[in-house]
Amino acid sequence: MPTDTFSLAFGGQSVLVTGASSGIGRALALRLGRAGAYVGLVARREQRLRALADELGPQARSTILVGDVSDEQFARQAVGRFAAEARGVDVLINNAGISMNGAFESTDIGVFRRMMDVNYFGSLFFTRHAFPHLRESGGSVMFISSIVGKRGFPTRSGYAASKFAVHGLFESLRVEWADSGVHVGIVAPGYTDTEIRDVALGPDGLPGQNQGHTSGGVMSADDAAVAILDATAGRRREVVLTLGGKVMVWMNKLAPALADRVAGKVVR
Ligand SMILES: NC(=O)c1ccc[n+]([C@@H]2O[C@H](COP(=O)([O-])OP(=O)(O)OC[C@H]3O[C@@H](n4cnc5c(N)ncnc54)[C@H](OP(=O)(O)O)[C@@H]3O)[C@@H](O)[C@H]2O)c1
Repeated sequence: MPTDTFSLAFGGQSVLVTGASSGIGRALALRLGRAGAYVGLVARREQRLRALADELGPQARSTILVGDVSDEQFARQAVGRFAAEARGVDVLINNAGISMNGAFESTDIGVFRRMMDVNYFGSLFFTRHAFPHLRESGGSVMFISSIVGKRGFPTRSGYAASKFAVHGLFESLRVEWADSGVHVGIVAPGYTDTEIRDVALGPDGLPGQNQGHTSGGVMSADDAAVAILDATAGRRREVVLTLGGKVMVWMNKLAPALADRVAGKVVR
């Protein structure tokens, strides 16, 4: 679907985006605001969300929801407030996420828990509380996973496990809610140019230890956002982004031993 049709798909829709203060979530919010959607902006950094709401312009309608997605009470209140102000929820995009970088044996156990809390439980909480609204609207829930949610990579074990968990949740709900009228979709981005590597948790659990780069092509956050909105509007099941990502997923199915070797090489 070409990008100029987003106003047809999302104009007047109530769209809740987690992780809107940076990267892909920010790009999603900007596209949705321009398309005339009522956008719910979720993240911890309030100033960034305020600046984003200003950037959306005075005619755009948005609600700023500041908090930690791994806090279930926050998720419940955020969804409730958004649904009240935006008169329902048509789309939920579970995008908030963090990554990590560390050898399995020397990484603090708390890092593995934090990956699950933010990437898996954060998505689960928002989905759970948005479901009654999505059932009413016949809307969509989108999960933003990763290539690393389909194929493990060295030094990303906690991140990979949390994204595999997201895939399990997605597949189960897709079938469980098949007759509910709610579309359940997932997008697995490849290497995208955002802040995720700068804030990734190191082995000691502290952020800001640059994760380094994987080899292969890099997608812009805006291109990723366009692909996610295309997948949402088209009520697609699953979309894998970047050529490198698609190759890796297919290689993992057809030649897993080769995929092991490649996975060892691309993360350095
Ligand atoms: N960039 C890539 O190469 C890549 C590849 C595959 C998948 N992805 C996935 O794409 C999604 C977006 O990531 P990105 O690349 O755009 O990274 P990013 O630039 O670091 O943005 C991450 C967003 O998530 C929010 N967030 C993180 N922890 C949160 C928490 N506990 N509570 C609420 N919000 C939280 C951040 O906001 P605050 O810090 O303000 O809370 C920020 O808005 C993630 O799910 C990521 O796993 C990214």
